[in-house]
Order: sequence, then C-alpha cells, then structure tokens
Amino acid sequence: MSKHPPEPFRIKMVEPIQLIDKPAREKALQRSGYNIFGLKSDEVFIDLLTDSGTGAMSQDQWSGIMSGDESYAGARSFHRLSEAMVDIFGFKHFVPTHQGRAAENILCAVILGDGQYVPSNMHFDTTEGNIRARGGRPVNLVCEEAFFSDPDILFKGNMDLEKLEGFIKEVGPENIPLGMITITNNAGGGQPVSLENLRAVSKIYKSYKIPFFIDACRFAENAYFIKLREPSCKKKSTLEIAREIFSLADGATMSAKKDAIVNIGGFLAVNDSDLFEKIKSELILREGFITYGGLAGRDLDAIAIGLREGLNEDYLAYRLGQTSYLVNQLKKAGVPVIEPAGGHAVYIDACKMLPHIPQTEFPGQSLVVEMYREGAIRGVELGSVAFAFPDPDTGEMVYPEMELVRLALPRRTYTQSHLDYVVEVLGAIQENREKLSGFKITKSPVLMRHFSCIFEPV
Ligand code: F0G
Repeated sequence: MSKHPPEPFRIKMVEPIQLIDKPAREKALQRSGYNIFGLKSDEVFIDLLTDSGTGAMSQDQWSGIMSGDESYAGARSFHRLSEAMVDIFGFKHFVPTHQGRAAENILCAVILGDGQYVPSNMHFDTTEGNIRARGGRPVNLVCEEAFFSDPDILFKGNMDLEKLEGFIKEVGPENIPLGMITITNNAGGGQPVSLENLRAVSKIYKSYKIPFFIDACRFAENAYFIKLREPSCKKKSTLEIAREIFSLADGATMSAKKDAIVNIGGFLAVNDSDLFEKIKSELILREGFITYGGLAGRDLDAIAIGLREGLNEDYLAYRLGQTSYLVNQLKKAGVPVIEPAGGHAVYIDACKMLPHIPQTEFPGQSLVVEMYREGAIRGVELGSVAFAFPDPDTGEMVYPEMELVRLALPRRTYTQSHLDYVVEVLGAIQENREKLSGFKITKSPVLMRHFSCIFEPV
C-alpha cells in the first residue's frame, strides 16, 4: 500500500471555490475585527476552520436522506439510527440531539451541581462551557506527554492515571458527579487514547462509583489509531474496537458532525434508566421529542449510514494518511507542527513559530490572521484566545500549556493539491515570520470568546 493512500472515492458533484485578491482579503479581515469566524465563506479559499459538519456526504447518505421519515414520533428513521447505535455503541438508551453541545447541555443539566468537578483528559471548549454554565468545574488531567512534540509517542491523548486517582481522592468522589474522556483529544492535538488507558480510566471511575462518559466525536479515528498502534488490537476491526471502547463506559456524548460525516446532528447515550428519564424530560423541553431530538427524520438516516461509513477502514487509512501527509510536508517546509499527526487535524505550535510574540498577545491568532492574509486559508486558534480563563478563586488569568493553530481537514472534501497549496502558503509565512506581530482583544463575551471577540493588531 502507498504511504498516503489515495481517496477511496471519486468526485461526482463539485462545489466551486475562488481565491479573492489580497486587498479584498485585507478588507475582509478589518471588517471582521481580525476574527476569522466573521469572514464570509466566499472570502475563504481553503477552509480548514473545522472538520465539524463540513464533510462531504456519500451517495448512500444522500439517498438515505430521500427515504427519511418525518413522523413526529416513532419515525422509521429513528429506528434505523437505533439499529446502528446498538450495533456500534451498545448503550441501553439514547436520544438524538441537534449537535454535540446539545447533548453536553442536557447531560450537565441532569447530572451536575454547583461547584462540582468533571475530570477528563481534556475537555473541548463547548464541554468546558457547558460545565461552567451549570456552575461546575472542568478539570484536565491529560498525560504529560500530551505537551511534547515527538513522533514516537503514540497515545498522547491518554489520561494521566495517577493524577486522576489523586484528584478523585483530593476532592472526594461525592463531588464528582461524572468523569469523562475525549476521544480523540481535540483540544490537545487530535491525539488518540489507547484502549489500555480507556480500560484503566474506566476501572478507576468504577471503583469510586463515578459514572464514566466518553466524548465520542472522533471515536472511529481513535479506534483506527488503536488498531494501527496497539499491538494487541492489530487483528481486530475498528468496529470491534469501538464496541470494546463503549462497553467500558456508562454513556457518551457525540457530535455526529465529525465521525458520522453529516452536516448536523449528535446524540446522548446512557445505560442508567433513571438518568434517561431525566434526559428525556430535558430533551423534550429544549430540543424536541425523543425520537428526533431537534433533527429532521432524514438527518437521522444520514447519521445511521455515516456512522458505519466513518468506521470503514479504507476510508480511515486515507483519512489518517491525509493528516500525516500534511504534517510531513509542513515539517519539510520548516513549520513547527505537533507530531505525530492528529486524526482530524494538523496543529502548528505558534509559540515555537513566533517566539517573539508573548502569550498575552496571542501568537496563534497572529498566525491565523496571516494564513488568511497570505493565502485565504482559514484555520483556527486553539490557544489563549480559546482557552485562557480567569481562575474562579483568584480571578487571575490561567493560560493554556500550548498556543496551537489547528488546520482541521473536512472529511472527503479537499484533495492532495489543496493540501500542497496550504504547505506553500505556510512555508512562505515561516520564511517571513519575524514580521508578524501580536493582537489584543478589544471586545469579548464572557464564555466561548473565540467565536465572537474583536481584535486589534498590537
Ligand atoms: N466535543 C468535541 C471533542 C468537539 O470537538 C466538539 C466540536 C464538540 C464536543 C461539540 O460538538 O460542535 O456538534 O456542538 N468541535 C468542533 C470543532 C466545533 O471545530 O472542533 P458540536
């Protein structure tokens, strides 16, 4: 097999994209307050903002959409999704939700009390936001290696087991209404968690009677990493690995916009029947009836089909091949990337690339702006803009360990020559990196500020 497997599909429908000129890009930047979330998609040439909901659905998914059943209750589409859910995840109950954060919101509403803690390897920002919005305290206990760039560390998403157990003892299991883990670890470079680590985490949570929830957004990519990298799993299919992963947990939240390769959707799954009763009430109040959860029937069909396609191993070999291709090419161009490549994205270490810009002036944001200015490429800052927050006890700003810029690859969307263009642009920025300067935030909401805050160049 070639090192970077070619696309296991061919293109049957195209969506034109255009590269607007440099003055127009500068104007767009100023208009949006240097926040790339404010750009119009037509102003972007290669959009690597997110892999969430931006993938290309297959012909089977589109034909599934045509047979969607839009009945308010008990739709055939729901039952088709249920079959896929039982087959892959095996939880006793689930509800569809309109996306991952809706599942997180409902879970936090029914399980979390004021001042309580929720440990994880690393929470993603919406999970953190939902925990904080209910008065809870998200805690990140990922292994130390998460912060090293080293191609030989294969499971940098792993939980630090000693820290986890120490933390539970320190605050008391009665103050931890649920424990989580994110697979793959999006906030920490899209790095996988090993099956061995998942088993150990499950054991620890169980021993303290803490319900264990998996943030399953990118479970299929994580399962394929396990197959490739964990010797005892070499002969297992990704489906078998996925089943084993979820058999370790009490529930899961998922944004289907990732590994189910749909444009909208998610779910919340649990085993506990009492908890499920509360979930149903909350869902009906906020999202919709339990057999559609804020989605159309056709969306449920697209998810059911996409969940299985997302586990296809030819697809996953190509998918992980794309990120590893991009990492290798960027490395050759001298750009400091996080290694090994993540499943869904490539992460650039902005502190390393722009050491002259202090964390307080957002080096990641500076790089994101420059990528747009130079090449109309949209990436996203996952550093202090997204993750710095005031300590609830002291009020002092707590900065994240790393200032990352993420280039997320939408599924089945961009070709290798698109990636080569990205490498060219970033190579040019790397050569002129001393010319970049920092930013300050001039206007900002309290939660989730990176989506809407306004910047000014320093
Ligand atoms: N958990 C993880 C690990 C995520 O990456 C995301 C979304 C969510 C939960 C929330 O899901 O968007 O459907 O509400 N991540 C997107 C991203 C936004 O760009 O990484 P959602």
